[in-house]
Amino acid sequence: MSLVTMRHGAHKLSDLQRWESESYQRDTGFVSDYGADVLSWLEPLAGERILDLGCGDGVLTHKIAKSGADVVGADSSSSFIKTAKASGLDARVLDAQNLPFHREFDAVFSNAALHWMIHAEEVIRSVKRALKPNGRFVGEFGGFGNVAAIITAMRAVGEELGGDPNRIGPWFFPTVDQYSAMLEQQGFEVENIVTFYRPTPLPTGMRAWLKVMSGAFFDQYGDRADVALDKVEAVLKGSLCDHSGQWFADYVRLRFRARLDD
Ligand code: BEZ
Repeated sequence: MSLVTMRHGAHKLSDLQRWESESYQRDTGFVSDYGADVLSWLEPLAGERILDLGCGDGVLTHKIAKSGADVVGADSSSSFIKTAKASGLDARVLDAQNLPFHREFDAVFSNAALHWMIHAEEVIRSVKRALKPNGRFVGEFGGFGNVAAIITAMRAVGEELGGDPNRIGPWFFPTVDQYSAMLEQQGFEVENIVTFYRPTPLPTGMRAWLKVMSGAFFDQYGDRADVALDKVEAVLKGSLCDHSGQWFADYVRLRFRARLDD
C-alpha cells in the first residue's frame, strides 16, 4: 500500500510499485488476516473516529468498523480505493504525507503499509495533525531486517544479470529505537513498541509474492523476467522453502502504540 510518490534513485515510487487489487487479494490476502492481531492494540470503541492509513482493499477497515467506530480508509492506490468503496467503505485516495485532516481522529491505524512510506518523519507529522489531542497512533509494519533474505537474493541476481538495485523497494524497515525516536520527536509518547520475527507462509508461493511486491525489479528484465525470477527462487529455496514445498517470507514486524501528549 503505497502512500507516497517520492523519488527513489532515478525513479518515482509510483512508477516502481503498482497495485492491482485482485492479484493483491489472491497472492497476499494473508496480510489482513495477520493484521487482525494488531487490532487488539488499537482497541477501537463505538463512536470513535478512526483513520485506517494504507487501508488497501479495506478488509481490515471493515473489521475496525464492526466495533461501531466511524472509520475512514485512506490509500494512494486508486485500484484499492475503488475496491474499498465498492464494499461500502468511506475510502479516499490520499497522500499520507499531506493528510487533509486537522484534529479530527481519535486514532490513526496502519497495517503493513508504513514500510512503503520512506519519508517517515513527514508521515508522522501528518498523522499528528490529523489526531485530536491525546489521540493514538497504532500500527504494524516491516521492522529492521524484514525480508532480508529476499532482498539479498534480488541484489545478488541483479548483480549477476545487470540490473538497477534501486528497483528493489524502496522500503523503510526501522529498528525499535529509530522509530521510537521519530515518534517522540513529534511529541508522541510511545506506550508500547516491539519487534518480532514472523516467518509467513505464502499461499501462492514465492514467485507470486515477488511479482506482486517487487514487480518493478523483475519488469526491468522484460522478456527475461522469468529467468530473474527462477534465479531468485533458486537462491532462496534452501532457506525459505520447507521440506513440503511451502514457501515463507522472512517477515520481521514492528508493532507500536503511541499517544499524543496533548
Ligand atoms: C511486508 O509486509 O513486510 C512487505 C511487503 C512488501 C514488500 C516488502 C515487505
